[in-house]
Amino acid sequence: MPDIYILGIESSCDETAAAVVRSGEQLISNVVYSQIAAHQAYGGVVPELASREHLRAIVPVVRTALEDAGKSYDTVDAVAVTQGPGLAGSLLVGLSYAKALAFAANKPLIAVNHLEGHIHAVLLEERQKGNVELQFPVLALVVSGGHTHLYLAEAKQDGWVYHNVGQTRDDAAGEAFDKVAKLLELGYPGGPIIDFLAPHGNPDAVRFPFAQIKHRDRNPENRYEPEARRIDFSYSGIKTAVLRYVELHGMRETIARRREALGSIASPAREDYLHNCDKQTLDLVASFQRAMVNDLISKTLTAAREYSAATLLVTGGVAANSELRAGFDREASGEGLPVYFPSPKLSTDNAAMIAAAAYPRFLAGTFAAAELSADAGLRLR
Ligand code: KG4
Ligand code: ZN
Repeated sequence: MPDIYILGIESSCDETAAAVVRSGEQLISNVVYSQIAAHQAYGGVVPELASREHLRAIVPVVRTALEDAGKSYDTVDAVAVTQGPGLAGSLLVGLSYAKALAFAANKPLIAVNHLEGHIHAVLLEERQKGNVELQFPVLALVVSGGHTHLYLAEAKQDGWVYHNVGQTRDDAAGEAFDKVAKLLELGYPGGPIIDFLAPHGNPDAVRFPFAQIKHRDRNPENRYEPEARRIDFSYSGIKTAVLRYVELHGMRETIARRREALGSIASPAREDYLHNCDKQTLDLVASFQRAMVNDLISKTLTAAREYSAATLLVTGGVAANSELRAGFDREASGEGLPVYFPSPKLSTDNAAMIAAAAYPRFLAGTFAAAELSADAGLRLR
C-alpha cells in the first residue's frame, strides 16, 4: 500500500487549522491558529468575528501546514474538510476553500464530521504508537465546548458506524467550564484555567448534586432496543448552582476586584489568576471541577456497562482536563476497561484529526460531490 498524504482543513469553531497526515497514522504537520485573543473580551465565541478571523487565517495556515510537511497542492493525495457540525459561517470558510483547492489541483475532496474527527485524534496517535488492535464495541465520549456525546462504534468496511447512546440535554461540559470561568472572571476559555487552579482548592468544599438521567431509548433507530438505555447528561444546572453559591456567599466583590486587577495586566498568565483568587474561590473552582469530572466518569462507565463496551475513547477539548484523565485512568482500569485519550494538543480542535478520519474514506473511494455544502447540525452515524 503506497503512502497516502491527506491535507486536512478544519474551521468549525474558533480554530483555523490545517494538517498533513500520512496514511491515517503519521502526523506530518499540524498548524492551529487559535482565535482566543479575538473572542476573549466577549467571554465566548462570537460567530461573526469567527468567520472573519477564519477568512484572514485560512490561506497562511494551509500554506504553512503544506510547507512544514514539505508538500505542495500537487503532491498531496486528497483534501479533507470538516463539513459540520459547527458554526455555519465558520464551516463555510474552510469548506469553500477546500473545495476550490481540490478542484484547482484536481484532487479528491473528502467530507468529515467534526465529531468523528475528534474520535480519530485518538486513533491517529494510538496507531502512531503502534497500537492498532482495538477491541469492539468501542464507546467514545466526545466532550468539548459544543458536545457531550456518547457514541457506540462498530467497524464496517469503509470506516466506523456510530450509534448515539447519550448526550447532554442542555449545555455541553466545556460550555459549563467556560460559563463558570466567565462568572468568576477567570478569562476565556475556562477549561484550561480551571484545570490549573483546581488543585489549589478543596474539591470537597461545595457539593453539587447531579440528576441521574437514564431512560429507555424510544428512538426507533436504536438497534439495541429494548434492553438498552440512554445515558444523558445535563450541565446547565451546575452553572446556576455556582451562581447561587456566589450570590449567597457574597462573592461579587472579590470577583469585581479580580476583574479590575487582571484588567490592568496586558495578557494575564495563569499565575496572575492564581494570585488573584482567594481560598473561597479556589475551593469553589475545585469543587466544580470535581463534580463535573465525577459525573462525566460515572455516566460514561454506566454506559460502558450497559452496552458491554470493550474499549473506551475520551476525546474533545475537555478530554485535556488532567483530573478527568486521571479519573478515567483509575476508574476504567479498575473495571478492566482500556481507555485512550488524545494528547492534550490533539484533544482540542485541530485538522490532523480531520485528515486522519478521511483516510478510510479515501481507501473506500468515498469522495464528496461538487455540490457539497456545510451542515451546521450534521449528525454522526
Ligand atoms: O474541542 P474544542 O477545542 O472545541 C469544540 O469543538 O468545542 O473544545 C473546547 C472546549 C472549551 O469549552 C474549553 O474550555 C474546553 O474545551 N477545555 C477544557 C480544557 N481544555 C479545553 N476543559 C477542561 N479542562 C481543560 N484542560
Ligand atoms: Zn471540537
